[in-house]
Amino acid sequence: MDVTAAVFREPGQPLTIETLQLAGPGPGEVLVKVVASGICHSDLHVVNGEWSSPAPLVLGHEGAGIVDAVGDGVTTVSPGDHVVLSWMPYCRRCHYCLAGRPNLCALVESTAYNSVMLDGTTRLSQDGEPVYSYLATASFANWAVVPETAAIRIRDDAPLDKVSLVGCAVATGIGAVANTARVRMGSSVLVVGCGGVGLSTISGAVIAGAGQVIAVDINDSNLERARALGATHTLNSRTEDVLAALPGITGSAGVDYAFEAIGLPTTIELAYDALAPGGTAVVVGQVAEGKKITIDPFVMSDREKTLTGSNYGSCRPPVDFPKIVDLYMNDRLPLDSLIERTIDIGEINKAFDAMVRGETARSIIIHQH
Ligand SMILES: NC(=O)c1ccc[n+]([C@@H]2O[C@H](COP(=O)([O-])OP(=O)(O)OC[C@H]3O[C@@H](n4cnc5c(N)ncnc54)[C@H](O)[C@@H]3O)[C@@H](O)[C@H]2O)c1
Ligand SMILES: [Zn+2]
Ligand SMILES: [Zn+2]
Repeated sequence: MDVTAAVFREPGQPLTIETLQLAGPGPGEVLVKVVASGICHSDLHVVNGEWSSPAPLVLGHEGAGIVDAVGDGVTTVSPGDHVVLSWMPYCRRCHYCLAGRPNLCALVESTAYNSVMLDGTTRLSQDGEPVYSYLATASFANWAVVPETAAIRIRDDAPLDKVSLVGCAVATGIGAVANTARVRMGSSVLVVGCGGVGLSTISGAVIAGAGQVIAVDINDSNLERARALGATHTLNSRTEDVLAALPGITGSAGVDYAFEAIGLPTTIELAYDALAPGGTAVVVGQVAEGKKITIDPFVMSDREKTLTGSNYGSCRPPVDFPKIVDLYMNDRLPLDSLIERTIDIGEINKAFDAMVRGETARSIIIHQH
């Protein structure tokens, strides 16, 4: 079938809207009519060349849609089911999958992270030439064939445009708090960076019962959004010294938990330096290839600080996504506040420009069919 997609051909160039061909679902695969797709900074890392990638490529990894057809052997979804797309298709067989940590599936390096399906090939093509699918998801196309473990069934009454965000920003942010750090009630939480991922981290901290949620950004409008979501304090790090301000807010040397949701070495170091003794810093933001950080290992041992990472919020998508959708549907998670605008696929480059300017919460593409 023909599909309409935003195609990445080389770094630094705008995506082009093109017609591609999509093969039907193979064994263990699912054809999804993609209703909506958010735009995440992890797409931008590829567009701006901070991360290398095969090309031509269809980006997009934060989608939701309706199952149209299933390949042989698929048992967890059927045509008509509503699904959130997961960008971590997992094999169900490796050590990590069996240990209940599918977000670390051993197969992902050679499959989704290479923008190919679990059998190493692509379903998208143009005039017979393969076109790659970012994270085996490719939600910047109006139809997608994904591995079965990337199509996570959710309840039918959830609005697909809104819950598309569960597929990346929301699962990542809430999961980093609930699954990776397991934030305790009453703790102080610092969130550095208030884009889609950071704002979701703030929501996660509020749900976890954090005593103080301190939001840091360089953009006042993002800080306003953070406050609306429940941040108790906001600091603009362009004009304020975050480390100097923290003792006055927490009454101790720093915070119990710090989450970095940007992907810059300096802000990862800031998150770590902001910890009170015994605190935990979680790296959620992802840096450009090759970047390194500097921390003081004496302070790490002496003050028992923990520095850890979080991939996809340490989520198990079939377990966590339906729960997160329930939180939204039960008015426990103000997901609508993460959305800046809905757009047509033709406006995608403008949405990336807005993200580069740091002006935006999420832009969501509504696909036409
Ligand atoms: N670990 C994971 O599984 C995972 C999943 C999704 C995204 N990510 C990563 O998380 C990061 C954030 O993604 P996003 O989509 O929310 O990005 P975004 O561009 O929407 O948000 C980034 C925010 O950081 C702010 N910012 C930029 N520079 C800053 C600075 N020096 N100091 C303070 N604030 C600053 C911006 O104003 C913006 O609000 C990216 O690196 C992305 O690749 C990681
Ligand atoms: Zn993402
Ligand atoms: Zn696996």
